[in-house]
Amino acid sequence: MADPATSTPFDLVILGAGSGGYACALRAAQLGLLVALVEEAEIGGTCLHRGCIPTKALLHAAELADGARAGAAHGVRTTFEGIDTEAMHARKDKIVAQLYRGLTGLVGQADIEVVAGRGRLVDAQTVSVETADGARTVTGRTVVVATGSYARTLPGIEVGPRIMTSEQAMDLAEIPGRVAVLGGGVIGVEFASMLRSFGSEVTIIEALDRLVAGEEAASSQQLTRAFKKRGITTRTSAKVASVDTDEDRAIVHLEDGDSLEVDLVLVAVGRGPRSEGIGLEEAGVATDRGFVPTDERLRTNVEGVRAVGDLVPGPQLAHRGFAHGIFVAEDIAGLDPTPVDDLTIPKVTYCDPEIASVGLSSEAAKSSGVDVETHAYPLGGNGRSLIRGTSGSVTLVREKDGPVLGVHIVGLGASELISEAQLVVGWEAHPEDITPFVHAHPTQSEALGEAAMLASGRPLHAHA
Ligand code: NAI
Repeated sequence: MADPATSTPFDLVILGAGSGGYACALRAAQLGLLVALVEEAEIGGTCLHRGCIPTKALLHAAELADGARAGAAHGVRTTFEGIDTEAMHARKDKIVAQLYRGLTGLVGQADIEVVAGRGRLVDAQTVSVETADGARTVTGRTVVVATGSYARTLPGIEVGPRIMTSEQAMDLAEIPGRVAVLGGGVIGVEFASMLRSFGSEVTIIEALDRLVAGEEAASSQQLTRAFKKRGITTRTSAKVASVDTDEDRAIVHLEDGDSLEVDLVLVAVGRGPRSEGIGLEEAGVATDRGFVPTDERLRTNVEGVRAVGDLVPGPQLAHRGFAHGIFVAEDIAGLDPTPVDDLTIPKVTYCDPEIASVGLSSEAAKSSGVDVETHAYPLGGNGRSLIRGTSGSVTLVREKDGPVLGVHIVGLGASELISEAQLVVGWEAHPEDITPFVHAHPTQSEALGEAAMLASGRPLHAHA
């Protein structure tokens, strides 16, 4: 293994050991490349420690809370008595710790030099790292910038005991009585859903005219309706002017003059790129509003410097980071891999009901000039969905007489259903290619088969 204290160059120096960075390191090491992985905190990054994994553990607890409430309707005697936050966080932290042990084990067994400390680019081949033992210089033929993203706040709205981002809100010691969620994007609706299940009164304040604006409009409508039924208030086309806080409460002032008194404000207005203070400017790496633009092979404007994950404009998703990291490792090793296509990356929002999608929305397809048809199969006609007590739909967006361009799913279970949909979109299948494949009955996945039958003009359990 090369010693970073010496001038021996690595094949790859990776700055940041989150999803993009560690995936790149593991794949590169598998391919026999000499790798240095620079990380100032813990391997695993936002996804493992402050994002995907801990929040989904909490959302699972939320699902169980709702299950306890719903028991009677199924003839099961259960009551929801409240949330034991200590026990809930202990389980969440145990899951994170177990995955962390596994990941550090994988990295430890691979031939990867982990350099602990804050790193910054000095030039296109050199990263200087402030380690506990002083500054170390690590050089590589390629430098991969994988520093990820951070939770944005709004001007004048500072994190404190009554104002939090998702980072602090995932460790709440008490369930707040009243919550205002600023931003109805992915994080906003996941936390709104979770806190409602825990018993909070929740109001979402969203600047745009609908929730989860990156999704098919029909998915936003269904979510808003389902949230209303669950007692979550949604205020769209509403902007926050300021927030006042004292020891007991927070007052959210809206631009239209209205105000709202709550116990907690959750700010979920997007995630910004972590690109400041890491030497990008010094190394001549161009940025655009802090993001690092790349070509499809994830090369920046500076020869030998690549970027992966949330720093690269596009969907900020851990699985996109993994794919980016693997791509760069294989590209450097000369395997000529296929570039990562954002369009075939599935997106999942883990609120109740879940939302999952892949490919184009009908709006995006139309605005790119395609003649599209939309076919929606309601989960109300799907036995397993009814049994599980969920409603929603599977919507296919297809080019007229052509392939499926996008699939949009709403309902409990959408997160797992989307994987078949992603193959359909990725392989440019026509609905007629899907119908010969018999789906197991009774499953929720049948809904995708039914949507394809509907789109082929031969519906079984639906009206044409
Ligand atoms: P987002 O971009 O999804 O949503 C932010 C929302 O805040 C937007 O709808 C925006 O219109 C609204 N907003 C902005 N300023 C506002 C203001 N002043 N007043 C009211 N509303 C305002 O960002 P979010 O939810 O913070 O998530 C960040 C990223 O993390 C996203 O790209 C998301 O994909 C990713 N993520 C993915 C998850 C998943 O895959 N399940 C889970 C959590 C995050």
